[in-house]
Amino acid sequence: MLVTEEILGDVKRRLQAAVATRRHAMHAPVVVDPTGDARIMVLRGVDDGLATLRFHTDARSPKAALFARGAAATVLAYDPDERVQLRMKGVARIERAGPMADAAWAATSTMGRRCYLAEHAPGVPVAAPGATLPQALGQRRPTLEESEAGRTNFAVLLVSVLEIDWLQLDSRGGTRAVLRRAGLDAPWQGGWVSP
Ligand SMILES: Cc1cc2nc3c(=O)[nH]c(=O)nc-3n(C[C@H](O)[C@H](O)[C@H](O)COP(=O)(O)O)c2cc1C
Repeated sequence: MLVTEEILGDVKRRLQAAVATRRHAMHAPVVVDPTGDARIMVLRGVDDGLATLRFHTDARSPKAALFARGAAATVLAYDPDERVQLRMKGVARIERAGPMADAAWAATSTMGRRCYLAEHAPGVPVAAPGATLPQALGQRRPTLEESEAGRTNFAVLLVSVLEIDWLQLDSRGGTRAVLRRAGLDAPWQGGWVSP
């Protein structure tokens, strides 16, 4: 099998398992923005072409402004049991409206929607520790109707992968491959590199 097929198949299998399984080591990778700032985000979806690694976020958060259309993004994940690191670079965009955001919101549980009901944007100084949820919702799950108020603060972050650096550690020094494509319609190219 070609290196590109082998590695792409491996990456897709790992990421699809990571989306489906909360306890998967790659369920919550590090996402790096163009300024170099980094944060953990839950990987919510991945399509076969790696054109959309999907994350959910608060549209008011600083990162939502940083990931303007075409901004560079790096997604970094590590599975310690399998000793595999995936370093994926690509271009990002934020979608607040449209079919992707609507479908993602529709599939989000009322508990998942609760954080989008916070009265203050993430990172805003507040007088007391903790979340700034409306008082009535501090201790309970919102109803479906109550949760709809969060839709305006909800956004999807989509990362289209253009470069994959795949590293598997082992006792002999490891195996590493780097693949790149010039654009989403361009073929993947690359191969094994020295770890
Ligand atoms: C396990 C874990 C999962 C997280 N998942 C998300 C997520 O899916 N989306 C998100 O916006 N923030 C998530 N966060 C919070 C971010 O890491 C970050 O603190 C927050 O979004 C503010 O980031 P910003 O200031 O860069 O916008 C998660 C944090 C942890 C620890």
